[in-house]
Amino acid sequence: MAGGIHLSGTSDGEQGPLPSGVLFGSARLAPILRPYWRYFPVVSLLGLVAAVLESVGVGALIPLIALMMAETVPASLPAPVVEIARVAHALPTPQRAYALIATVMALIGLKSLVHAANNLLVARLHAAISRDILDAMARRTIGLDFAFFLNGQGGRAFNALARSSWWVFEAVRAALQIVQAGASAMVFAAILLWLDWRLSLVASAGALVIAGVLALMDRMQRRQSILATATSEELLRRSREIVDGARVIRLFGQEAREQDRFQAETRATFRGYRSLNAVAGLVAPSFDFLIACVFIAILFTAYALGTSMAQVTAFLLLILRAQPQVGQISHARSVLASQAGPIGDAEWLLGQPLPPETLADARPVGAIDLPVVFDRVRFAYPDGTLALDDVSFAIAPGSVTALIGKSGAGKSTVINLLCGLVPPLSGEVRFGDTPLDQLRMKEWRGLVAVAGQDVGLFGGTVRDNIAYGCPGANDADILGAAAAAGAAGFIAALPQGLDAWVGDTGSNLSGGQRQRIALARALLKRPDLLILDEATNAVDALTEKEVMALLHERRFFRTALVISHRASTLEACTAAIVLDEGRVVEAGPLRETSYLAAMAGGPA
Ligand SMILES: Nc1ncnc2c1ncn2[C@@H]1O[C@H](COP(=O)(O)OP(=O)(O)OP(=O)(O)O)[C@@H](O)[C@H]1O
Ligand SMILES: [Mg+2]
Repeated sequence: MAGGIHLSGTSDGEQGPLPSGVLFGSARLAPILRPYWRYFPVVSLLGLVAAVLESVGVGALIPLIALMMAETVPASLPAPVVEIARVAHALPTPQRAYALIATVMALIGLKSLVHAANNLLVARLHAAISRDILDAMARRTIGLDFAFFLNGQGGRAFNALARSSWWVFEAVRAALQIVQAGASAMVFAAILLWLDWRLSLVASAGALVIAGVLALMDRMQRRQSILATATSEELLRRSREIVDGARVIRLFGQEAREQDRFQAETRATFRGYRSLNAVAGLVAPSFDFLIACVFIAILFTAYALGTSMAQVTAFLLLILRAQPQVGQISHARSVLASQAGPIGDAEWLLGQPLPPETLADARPVGAIDLPVVFDRVRFAYPDGTLALDDVSFAIAPGSVTALIGKSGAGKSTVINLLCGLVPPLSGEVRFGDTPLDQLRMKEWRGLVAVAGQDVGLFGGTVRDNIAYGCPGANDADILGAAAAAGAAGFIAALPQGLDAWVGDTGSNLSGGQRQRIALARALLKRPDLLILDEATNAVDALTEKEVMALLHERRFFRTALVISHRASTLEACTAAIVLDEGRVVEAGPLRETSYLAAMAGGPA
């Protein structure tokens, strides 16, 4: 059975190419970065200008050093340096020193200004790119087909959205640093070459060796990052459990066990991070050591070539000034490599296929005034559970129909199909003659309202929650829906009334209060088709009786489908469909179904 089951829009993402884990090589992330590409040359240019200013500043040090050491400035030095020396030489000795010091300070000051401006630009770019990446990830998650979540991929999506995204932002920062420092490093390299090509050859050979060693470390880090990210997903799931399950853990006295389970996860996760960090920790010391070797090699070469003291000093000073830039690049590369796992996660989420666009010729739905028909519908969940098997029935417009069946019979699954959240495996769900997938689904869902087992309140006020489906609703309508749902009394008793905060997922309210808010939310839509899936099972019998009066009076809706295990709730229903193990076993007038009689005999 499981082999043939595919829920639309989910399997392709799993079979697609593996994420690259490379920020700029990623087909998913590149379109988000594209609008910002044009700023990269500016970052580069500012980096370049800063480096030129700094290099000339250091160059102006040569005549100063020559002056202090009573040397002459070699004519072989780059023209700007010789020119500075020539101008300075025209001045008397004390003024010459002051003029050179002032020149150096001015150049370095200007360089600092350019550098600060560039940092500001980079900070803005980082914030904007990070924001766009997170927005794109959220847009994708919100736009995904509901089937994606049934496939049990919600946990990974949550991990990508809540956790990996922040590491992707670190990678973005690192990439910007490379652009910024890369330009400076190139200027330093060019000036070093100008200053002394033979010493530059030695420096270049050293740089090549360093780049090779770093590339090797990058590879190791990327592999370990992908492994570590995978294990950390489980840790995030446990973290949610110890928060969401706070009550159950205490009630069942399982604190120690949860602690142990959590510890097992942290051990596994941090074993992965330990290897990752071990390699990352080698980058800086290796870099420093190799740079020191290059230094010695340059000194040795200069000695062998008989290079002047001022020139060697300037050369080494420039290398020293360039080292932070090069160090920054090596660090940023390492960061990029170690975020390969999170980048891969973001790519995975952004690569999930969206449901097909609404067909251009999709049928508008003005009102649900035709029968809603299930025609030989089969449906299986991704794990292979066959929840509906050859189910056929019709719900007449204007009827109040009971959907009856034991727990696990497939009632809520019917609702999911009816709302177009999942497509049938075979068979058809139709509105009149039109299959549901040929309707404008947004319009269809606009006419249907569900209050159900999964209450689903959001953090916000009572008003926000009731008006969730009708954001512009006025207080009179909100209170009207609340009254019909039996919620008006307790809302009036809340110190802040409609403005009372319901807590995350409605945790400040009792179970029955939550249900009534959810019912009011459905009623406020004045839906054509109202679906109540155990919508009042946590409400006391007296209140429920009052609420169910709305079914008798047919207020707020045109057609209703009611699921309940209580016979008293179903009293207002005229028709009934009885499901058993995913099959329709009875359909017809409610009074004639045997299931109702059995229910009435048992505890209500
Ligand atoms: N997400 C899921 N993944 C796999 N199987 C599922 C999933 N949801 C439901 N099922 C299975 O599908 C079958 C029908 O479930 P459904 O929720 O439709 O039952 P129900 O009639 O609404 O039950 P209840 O009265 O307990 O709410 C059950 O066997 C259930 O275990
Ligand atoms: Mg159910």
